Amino acid sequence: MKQRPIGVGIVGYGLAGRVFHSTLIRNVEDFAIGAIAVRNEGRRALAVMDHPEATIHSSASELFANPDVDLVVIATPHDTHASMCVGAARAGKHVVVDKIMCMNVSEGEAMIEAADTNGVLLSVFQNRRWDADFLTVQDVLTRGLVGEPFVIESSVTGFGLTPGYRLPAGDRPRGWRTYAEFGGGPFRDWGAHLLDQAVQLCGGSPKRVVADFQYRRDWDVETAGTATLIFGSDDGTDREGIRFVIEVGSISAIPKPRWLIRGSEGAYIQYGRDPQEQALHRGEVGPRKMLPEHAPRLVREVEGALQDVVLDGLAGNYLAFYQNVAGAILGREELMVTAPSVLRSIRLLEVAAESARTNQVIAL
Ligand SMILES: NC(=O)c1ccc[n+]([C@@H]2O[C@H](COP(=O)([O-])OP(=O)(O)OC[C@H]3O[C@@H](n4cnc5c(N)ncnc54)[C@H](OP(=O)(O)O)[C@@H]3O)[C@@H](O)[C@H]2O)c1
Repeated sequence: MKQRPIGVGIVGYGLAGRVFHSTLIRNVEDFAIGAIAVRNEGRRALAVMDHPEATIHSSASELFANPDVDLVVIATPHDTHASMCVGAARAGKHVVVDKIMCMNVSEGEAMIEAADTNGVLLSVFQNRRWDADFLTVQDVLTRGLVGEPFVIESSVTGFGLTPGYRLPAGDRPRGWRTYAEFGGGPFRDWGAHLLDQAVQLCGGSPKRVVADFQYRRDWDVETAGTATLIFGSDDGTDREGIRFVIEVGSISAIPKPRWLIRGSEGAYIQYGRDPQEQALHRGEVGPRKMLPEHAPRLVREVEGALQDVVLDGLAGNYLAFYQNVAGAILGREELMVTAPSVLRSIRLLEVAAESARTNQVIAL
């Protein structure tokens, strides 16, 4: 007999809840969206239209009490993630929390403890572990195509609505993302992905971290930020070891490359972002490579001559995240994005913010 699908309840129906989670989850056979918690009238109307079969709740706690919900997906602003996750776990629900997992390491530890104590699964929506650009970089490094990597630069820079220099002072087109109290600021928003990817590529134990934030608006969140993770060499001198540099922010009318890697035998450069977010806005899911105009370029020394090639690259696929969560809930496979694995990047983010605040290099 076929099992009933895993009942999913989504809390929050903004960009993430509607475009990312709802679109992906409805394309995974083992899931059925049974409930959505939404307060705002306009978003409620969208939820009813998109999911006429789902129960619409007006609060997260009401959704946690719904017996048809097995898995709670938290797609609300960053400051709410820890308390919502603990509430859902105490109600006996499995939890997927969107990035950034939590505001700090101690919140994250409490979330993990709540999941463990209540015997439920906890994962974090680090969908960008399945970006085409990231998977291609991982493959290039694993195959040693640039030799030993010296410097890996990972940047998400643009010139968009935030900070919106020319807008009136009180105008905040990106809402909660422009307030510190809600966990806003581009360094937390994008750093959640870039630092998690750094941990996946290099491990979470750099020797030193130095970061710098700049503030270009009358807000209490940074406009742009950089952080350098200095990994050590085995001899303890740290003269060698990867330098992983991240930059985020909207101060670049000409964007930096998404990736620039320099190594002992070559270099790698790639512009532009993974196309899956745009595809999700069109309701499309499934494997996708970078657009041809964003294909990576690899320059390497082969038999004494520099070879300059455009790579095809690997395909990304966010569905893999939810297929794995379903498989893990059903006991078919190991969970891929575990909360402790994500906590390593939360720790780096905390250290980077401390470095920027105190203007110091922090040794770990
Ligand atoms: N992984 C990714 O690629 C990705 C992409 C985008 C966003 N995200 C993440 O998704 C999360 C939400 O971002 P977003 O862009 O979707 O924000 P958003 O568009 O502003 O939507 C936020 C939603 O949360 C609800 N909400 C806000 N405060 C709440 C509270 N205290 N209790 C219950 N509901 C509350 C809002 O409900 P009302 O309208 O009813 O107030 C709204 O439905 C963030 O963690 C963000 O980093 C991840």
